[in-house]
Amino acid sequence: MRKKIIVGNWKMNKTHREGMEMLVHFLKLLDLELSLNEDSGKEFPEIVVAPPYLIVADSAVLAQGWDIKIAAQNCSSEKEGAFTGEISASMLKAAKVDYVIIGHSERRNYFGETNQLVANKINRALESNLIAICCVGETLQERESGKQFQIITRQIQECLFHLNNDQLSKIVIAYEPVWAIGTGKNATPEQAQEIHKYIRSVISGKYGKEISENISILYGGSCNPQNAKSIFSQPDVDGGLIGGASLNARDFIDVVKAIL
Ligand code: 13P
Repeated sequence: MRKKIIVGNWKMNKTHREGMEMLVHFLKLLDLELSLNEDSGKEFPEIVVAPPYLIVADSAVLAQGWDIKIAAQNCSSEKEGAFTGEISASMLKAAKVDYVIIGHSERRNYFGETNQLVANKINRALESNLIAICCVGETLQERESGKQFQIITRQIQECLFHLNNDQLSKIVIAYEPVWAIGTGKNATPEQAQEIHKYIRSVISGKYGKEISENISILYGGSCNPQNAKSIFSQPDVDGGLIGGASLNARDFIDVVKAIL
């Protein structure tokens, strides 16, 4: 059965001190409010926190012994060498990072990342045994002209379809409609379900039903404690990639609770 996963993407927020304080606060709330749930028979989600690079390694140390995992928000498409300012997938793995977000729309829009570059980064992540969270999603203009299915199909084909079955099973897909990110205008549960079901069918067309049923597909875009439950209750939504609401320990715990 596929995993439920909630990922908090802090983006470029929090100094080292702020980040560590927030993480300690979050872990205390997790212990107080959710440890009982682990024995309740309810399926407990994988909780993943994606802080900025400077906090990643210490967060991973802090996370040891807790039931949370750490993600990076990006990695280099190169293995190593003269690439000033870059961080490689193998460096992240050595820092005890488990996941890496790849192809976020902010990286695509502000840093010119193409599907080809995303595919290369996914290869580096898999070579280092990281779980890659591959982000896809359409812009408002693409949705308004009815192109969302076409855009998402292309992103999936060009970012993922070079992988074999075994490699694909180490991928998580995040559907993040660009028009919903940071806008306060989330996709409705029905809109999210429609696209998630479609993504699963695209995966099924290439990799078969069993693999498509086992891949986790997360929703991201203005997901918060108020709307999370209705979005997560959709059959093809396996969790969330949470931006703004993951910056506050209370809100992030409430989003996690919404999937229980
Ligand atoms: P918001 O939750 O702030 O809309 O951000 C979503 C996102 O981009 C997570 O990666």
